[in-house]
Amino acid sequence: MRAIDENTITDAALEQMSGTPNPRLKQIMASLVRHLHDFTREVDLTAEEWLEGIRFLTAVGQKCTAHRQEFILLSDTLGLSALINALHDKRATEAATKSSLLGPFYRQDAPMMKLGDSIISHSKGTEVVFYGRVVDAAGRGIPNALVQVWEPDETGNYDLQKHDPSIMDLRGCFRADSEGKYYFRGLCPLGYMIPMDGPVGDMIRAQKRHGYRPAHIHFVIGAPGYRELVTALYVAGDDHIDSDTVFGVNESLIISVNKNDSSSPLPKLPSIRYDFQLAKAAKQDTSGRVGADPSQITAKA
Ligand SMILES: [Fe+2]
Repeated sequence: MRAIDENTITDAALEQMSGTPNPRLKQIMASLVRHLHDFTREVDLTAEEWLEGIRFLTAVGQKCTAHRQEFILLSDTLGLSALINALHDKRATEAATKSSLLGPFYRQDAPMMKLGDSIISHSKGTEVVFYGRVVDAAGRGIPNALVQVWEPDETGNYDLQKHDPSIMDLRGCFRADSEGKYYFRGLCPLGYMIPMDGPVGDMIRAQKRHGYRPAHIHFVIGAPGYRELVTALYVAGDDHIDSDTVFGVNESLIISVNKNDSSSPLPKLPSIRYDFQLAKAAKQDTSGRVGADPSQITAKA
């Protein structure tokens, strides 16, 4: 019989899992156990601390509903989501716009709108036009690309965070035209504090972090034969552009609002212009969505 001590326990656990038929599951679980055990030895974790961790993860799960995803928020604030995005981008076989966080506020079934429509239905604020092209690696327009967008309101909340989350606001889907061009109206993006009324907020406060995200608007862009792009655009000059609580900002995703843009399709409005580049889909491609509509996650759980 094997003597279990603080070192031999790792091999004992790996041995029991060694018959896992799915090779990827076997690899992931073996690595997870090795790192988890190494972490535990490194910090010399006590039973009280272990229980505190269990309490914390239990609270994270209990905070999740069909309209709220505290686990995605936890992943985002630990930098895990940004890391998954970076690894996803590295696997692309062609140049493409950088990924950024999907975050916990994406929802499927946002209304389909016509180019030029406004995604503002229940909010107030400075209206801007977002426009540009969806292009391939060679800069050619991708006709009919599907552009999904969502952003927070003037109070820094998404529709999912409101009293009646069944009402959709500040989100929509658009089809690019035959040259890959898109344009729509929305609010000039604003920054916000991540939800702080749950266990992730407790963690952020315990770490003396500010909890803010810089002003941004989210995009998911797809077209048949191309890797779906999950990204966001960030407004230059925001106080938190260099200290995003969820590490979503990339230099290449920073935009400025142009107050006098004669080339805009709606030149009377301030504009934000950005061209999104999609890479060809490769055989082995997996989704770049680090997350999903919260209702889908609870439905499958
Ligand atoms: Fe966001």
